Amino acid sequence: MEKTSQLYEGKAKKVFATTDPDLCIVSYKDDATAFNGLKKGTILGKGVINNRVTNHLMKLLENNGIPTHFVEEISDRETIVKKVSIIPIEVIVRNIAAGSLSKRLALEEGTKLGKTVIEYCYKNDDLGDPMINEYHILAMDFATEQELKQIADYSLRINKFLSEYLQDLKIELVDFKLEFGKTSDGTIVLADEISPDTCRFWDTVSGEKLDKDRFRRDLGGVEDAYQEIMKRLLGE
Ligand code: TMP
Ligand code: ASP
Repeated sequence: MEKTSQLYEGKAKKVFATTDPDLCIVSYKDDATAFNGLKKGTILGKGVINNRVTNHLMKLLENNGIPTHFVEEISDRETIVKKVSIIPIEVIVRNIAAGSLSKRLALEEGTKLGKTVIEYCYKNDDLGDPMINEYHILAMDFATEQELKQIADYSLRINKFLSEYLQDLKIELVDFKLEFGKTSDGTIVLADEISPDTCRFWDTVSGEKLDKDRFRRDLGGVEDAYQEIMKRLLGE
């Protein structure tokens, strides 16, 4: 199996077609953006860390009954994944108020939510990924009722598994974003990445932010935070 043409270049990754029509190769970049691309920068070593962290977590999830697009890590930055059509929804799962939820509802960051919150955004850069609800998703035919139920069920199971797993590593899973895709036979699988770019990770003891908020908010120590996450998850 070999890389053929580039299918897509996103803000943090490139996706290549391969000689196998059912497989793609993703290549993680060090480029970082925030606020829908308004803020741009580089986080040295981020591509390697996000590739390795994502694959580590996807393997754990797969072993715990969550189907994922992961196939095989082939280098520091590159991974073979199943070819999927991405469902154009970002699923955001929140355990603790932070970021846009804190702003929207005037909730102090760090407020524990009484119940896990799921939000959906329509993946559309031109529109700034607007928040939508289940009715919009069905009305726009982004997913069927059954698919949406499956996505929400997987998202809550992922949250439970990851929260417990990270708690043991002294990491609080504050919130995170997931994307799902559909394989050629219609199976829904977890796709995209799970990394410090797409999750809020707080040190359970110090409360220190160990994620992309350090870049978004110019807090400094960005590379160190990504390294720390890799060290806690992969032991290096
Ligand atoms: P938010 O508080 O800015 O809505 O972010 C919620 C979570 O989703 C947070 O863990 C960061 C992640 N996220 C992404 O992965 N991509 C995005 O484009 C945005 C806005 C958030
Ligand atoms: N990656 C997103 C962007 O640049 C936003 C973010 O992660 O804050 O739009």
